[in-house]
Amino acid sequence: MSIQLGDQVPDFTAQTTEGTVNLYDYIGDGWCVLFSHPKDYTPVCTTELGMVSKLAAEFAKRNVKVLGLSVDPLKDHVGWAADIKETQGVALNFPLIADSDREIANAYGMIHPNADNTLTVRSVFVIDAQKKLRLSITYPASTGRNFDEILRVIDSLQLTDGFKVATPVNWANGDDVIIVPAVTDEEAKGMFPAGWDAQKPYLRVTKQPNL
Ligand code: BEZ
Repeated sequence: MSIQLGDQVPDFTAQTTEGTVNLYDYIGDGWCVLFSHPKDYTPVCTTELGMVSKLAAEFAKRNVKVLGLSVDPLKDHVGWAADIKETQGVALNFPLIADSDREIANAYGMIHPNADNTLTVRSVFVIDAQKKLRLSITYPASTGRNFDEILRVIDSLQLTDGFKVATPVNWANGDDVIIVPAVTDEEAKGMFPAGWDAQKPYLRVTKQPNL
């Protein structure tokens, strides 16, 4: 059974390019993006690891730690990291797990045998400070991920944890949000003093509250 949204994610201790990392300790009281790569020395993964390194300040701003995983051994990761720096113009700046025995990949359901028996698919897990799974996305090996989208969802999750709102289609940080249907108009008056646009009784649009 795969890990589902809201589940406590399995803890693990792993060898990485930055030494031994325990997941729960690494997350601490922040959030984490754990993402898998099919294989070392592959072109799409090389671009992804470069992009995530370039986005380090964006993840830090949201109190999110990043953790990559590939089922190849540590020595391959080290050689590959040099290629990433050379071709992407940025050094790998977060730990990359060497999961040679596929223990973590199996625990997290990162291997989809009907897609490939041995390689991991491109999994993304967003884990919150309570170590609960808040988002999981699975991409095929041939499609590089869009990490701006992952940051966008983290913005939505962190916003909606603090306010009784939801975010509409294609929402980006700063855009208007929706008051959740469970909040009555009477309650909303106290929560959203600037008011809202009731396009339907269940569709009440208001300014993003934490701006
Ligand atoms: C890649 O990362 O470039 C890749 C990995 C596996 C299959 C296809 C592409």
